[in-house]
Amino acid sequence: METEVKLTLFNDVHRQIAEALHHAINGAFPELQEKPNLEALGSSLSSAPNFKMGHIAFACFPLAKICRKGPPQIAQMLLEQKPLKECPVIEKAQAQGPYLNFFLSLETLGNIVIGDINNGEYFQHKLIAGAEKWMIEYSQPNTHKILHVGHMRNLCLGNALVRMCRYAGVDMSAVTYPGDVGTHVAKCLWYLKKHNKEEPPKQNKGAWLGDMYTKANSLLEDQRGTENEDQNRAELTAILKELHDQKGEYYDLWLETKKWSVELMKEAYSWADVEFDRWFWESEVDAPSLNYVNELFKEGKLVKDDGAVGMDLSEDKLGFCLLIKTDGTGLYATKDVELARKKFEEYGIKRNIYIVDDRQAYHFKQVFKVLEKVGFEQAKDCYHLQYAMVELPDGAMSSRKGNIVPLMDLVSEMEKRIKEQFLNRYLEDQSWSEDEVNKTATMIANGAIKYGMIRVDNNRKITFNMDDWLKLDGETGPYLQYVHARIASLCEKLHYNDDLIVNWESLTKDQEIALMVKLLSFNDVVASGVQKLQTMHLCGYLYDLGKLFNSFYAECPIAKAETEELKNTRLALAHATGMVMKEGLALLGIQAPEKM
Ligand code: ARG
Repeated sequence: METEVKLTLFNDVHRQIAEALHHAINGAFPELQEKPNLEALGSSLSSAPNFKMGHIAFACFPLAKICRKGPPQIAQMLLEQKPLKECPVIEKAQAQGPYLNFFLSLETLGNIVIGDINNGEYFQHKLIAGAEKWMIEYSQPNTHKILHVGHMRNLCLGNALVRMCRYAGVDMSAVTYPGDVGTHVAKCLWYLKKHNKEEPPKQNKGAWLGDMYTKANSLLEDQRGTENEDQNRAELTAILKELHDQKGEYYDLWLETKKWSVELMKEAYSWADVEFDRWFWESEVDAPSLNYVNELFKEGKLVKDDGAVGMDLSEDKLGFCLLIKTDGTGLYATKDVELARKKFEEYGIKRNIYIVDDRQAYHFKQVFKVLEKVGFEQAKDCYHLQYAMVELPDGAMSSRKGNIVPLMDLVSEMEKRIKEQFLNRYLEDQSWSEDEVNKTATMIANGAIKYGMIRVDNNRKITFNMDDWLKLDGETGPYLQYVHARIASLCEKLHYNDDLIVNWESLTKDQEIALMVKLLSFNDVVASGVQKLQTMHLCGYLYDLGKLFNSFYAECPIAKAETEELKNTRLALAHATGMVMKEGLALLGIQAPEKM
């Protein structure tokens, strides 16, 4: 989704260039009525495709309509204007097709950009204008089912987007909506009470409960078509009724077992360093959703079809959205209509984002249409952010294949592997405490899983592969953490501090300039990730940054630089890279250990 997010001018360099452009446009097109304002000009600034072509590019397309000239001609005309020639931060400008490319002076790049990064101010800029309230709903696992590695994609994506949006200046609420009612719950409780003979374990009850659900499903499957089938169905209906009426032994069992699942979710969230501002429950909107939909029916906004209530969306090619069945019960969509109403009315949100896998696309189209037709203006700002499935190297996960990897098992397996592969040697030579090793292993596992889950386009399938995701020489989270840790130890060894005397003019190598220009564009990349609600570009950016740093480090000696000044300047550049890497990883929800 390209949201209509308005960008602000990120920093002084952008502001000065936008001002110069403003004057240049006045000069070149004095007769123009409506001139673009600074913000509009600022949002047409972006990074040039490579540092040899420029450091910042200005796109002339948006001017074409008002100036009545082709973008390349506009670029040429602006190039001639004095304000651009005299702008102190611009060393050189160059027209390249529809773009005007600017080269900054080393002084500017160093003092304004790298300096700002090193003192942290660069990360305080608000990237988008306005203070709209947004809400992202993500990680909505069902209770009473297995929490597995597939659930991580949603969790990691939502967590990163919330962090990126907040960093950019969005007033963002993060919420979750676990599915704690419905047939899956009834099946699990049914099996637990009528067929299970095992005692629940003392610990990890949530995972065990997930197994019970899987067993319930296979038993029901096995008995399909046998004399038990009808009886099973009747029993499940009776359980659902008890849950609905909120009394009876199944209701009590539901209350108790739900806690087990929630405990497991909380364990996973705490491991992943995820927090929600609000937990919505399917059970909490269940009864109110029926009341609300009945009201809508009375108001004449819904129709009756064969005894069932819903909305005819055939004009919009969305069929009939069923909201109350003939037996008087609601459906998944019914609850979503009520949930959205709650979100709009209780939180006053403008943009309403749902991160849910792509199999529910039709469902959300229907729900959003219903919301629109019953009169919610916010319906146009509801957005289903879809993503594709996670597979294992041997194909899709399925309970029948028995290859579902419970989340916390995977996590401990991964941390164990990380310790063996990278960290146990520090225990052996006693340079690290056990606690340090454990904490670092958790950070690296977080890095591997989170980066792996969000580095590709949301619509592309992912194959989870522990070995690949842990590689220190591939496009992985641990690779980026490793780059950061190397920089941290370098800065410590060479005593980096703010008072070092630097001379940016002393940097002359391509690797140095390329790195500086890359750092300059960090905020740009985050802002466009927020506009598109995508994480993959930030992931790619950090990977490129890591590679650029490595070639800088290989080609430009720091400790052994020819002069003290050059050494300090390179060290300051390395430090800034570490800062951006750390901040970038943090926006993806990944902590960066100081050593690893
Ligand atoms: N619990 C649901 C599932 O596992 C996802 C809920 C998505 N959110 C929503 N508002 N419908 O399929």
